[in-house]
Amino acid sequence: MNLHVPGHRQGRGLPAELLSLGGQALFELDLTEIPGLDDLHNPRGAIASAQALAARAYGAARSFFLVNGTTVGIHALLTAVGGRGKVVVSRNAHRSALSGLVLSGADPVYVMPEKINEFGIASGISPEKIRRALEVNPGVEAVLTVRPDYYGVADDLAGQVRVSHFMDKPLLVDEAHGAHLRFHPDLPEDAMAAGADACVQSTHKLGGSLTQSSLLHLGAGHLLAAEAVAGALDLLQTTSPSYLLMASLDLARRQLALSGEGLLERTVSLANKTRECLARIGGLKVLTEDYLEGDGLGLDPTKLVVSVSGLGLTGYQVGSLLFRRYNIYIEMADTTNIVAFLSIGTTPEDCDALVNALGDIASRDKQTSSIRYPEVPARIVKRMKPRDAWFAPARRVSLADARGRVCAETVAVYPPGIPVVCPGEEIIPEVHDCLEIISNMGLPCQGVSDHTLRSIKVVME
Ligand SMILES: Cc1ncc(COP(=O)(O)O)c(C=O)c1O
Repeated sequence: MNLHVPGHRQGRGLPAELLSLGGQALFELDLTEIPGLDDLHNPRGAIASAQALAARAYGAARSFFLVNGTTVGIHALLTAVGGRGKVVVSRNAHRSALSGLVLSGADPVYVMPEKINEFGIASGISPEKIRRALEVNPGVEAVLTVRPDYYGVADDLAGQVRVSHFMDKPLLVDEAHGAHLRFHPDLPEDAMAAGADACVQSTHKLGGSLTQSSLLHLGAGHLLAAEAVAGALDLLQTTSPSYLLMASLDLARRQLALSGEGLLERTVSLANKTRECLARIGGLKVLTEDYLEGDGLGLDPTKLVVSVSGLGLTGYQVGSLLFRRYNIYIEMADTTNIVAFLSIGTTPEDCDALVNALGDIASRDKQTSSIRYPEVPARIVKRMKPRDAWFAPARRVSLADARGRVCAETVAVYPPGIPVVCPGEEIIPEVHDCLEIISNMGLPCQGVSDHTLRSIKVVME
């Protein structure tokens, strides 16, 4: 049972044209830039038409096919706007944004998201925080936010657009989890509809295309130069883009445009019913809009976020039980929650299996012990730009010796949460304490050279 990306679920949600291709036909589609097949880096034929159809479907001024996921789109946006300037970045940014800061040399001005304490997750950035960051940091080139986040929380994008545009700054949205939003009225408003200047979507996650295929859309505003983005993509994308991936993007766009609402209606209603069933299981808490505080916040109902802390278990423990004992693969688990993604390929049987398994775990595996989770410190002391720290001479020291040093790598507990520390930041006492807890608990970390976190890379001073 799969309740994770890619959204086509081993073919069940694929566009019929793609599904009907057998092995040989698939190989026949694996082509290169022969006459008639256009060129992703200079599109004037089939690819240009397909990108124009994508722009029309998503209400964009211009759309680009991406063959290295949303990651390359975010790198391209930061390269296009970043240069050596400042960029306001939400601290719960995905690691692709953090690596984009290293590649582009942009100087981040972080804004901290609010928290939903019951679930230990971020609830997004208020427009007011962005306004303040823009006011006290002259020379900002752009604002980059992530919306909806991995948990389906969609913050007040229209408000963020308003404050950014008031200061003449483009608003860029990591919409990796939002390729489907535009196609159903019960889903949060999508970035193009809200007036963002650019967004990048992992069509492969929830839009029904093949893994690694994504779309970058540009809005109609004048704050972001389309040619700069096209140039950055030209710099960063492979010169051998896969026609299979590009064809899957075109077919997924067609499926969403022609029958997206009907397909998503099934998914949304399945998700709502499943949420109700899960809420009846003792010890589980299910994320709903009732937990969102603040104006303009919304939730993508196709994501099921379930806190299992009432069972005295971590999300990791429950995620592991789900696949070992019940053969159910969810999208992710964190210290507090499990997260299952529903998509157009999900069936009622998948959801029934999840409800039954969690009911069983709640009655068999409940613990009385309580677990101390690491709190990511809100204070950041930035001593260097991420790029400068990344390229500076560095060495690994034991975690015990790292207090007060400038970190040369990113530490973020996986799945992507708020990074504890990024390259160029001082390992201040509260960060050090947090790193020690993470290391002692053996939590999975991303971005680190020593995954046990007993040592850490610091800049040589
Ligand atoms: C919020 C967010 N942004 C960006 C990405 C990168 O997307 P991709 O895997 O399509 O490169 C991810 C991937 O998980 C993500 O969760």
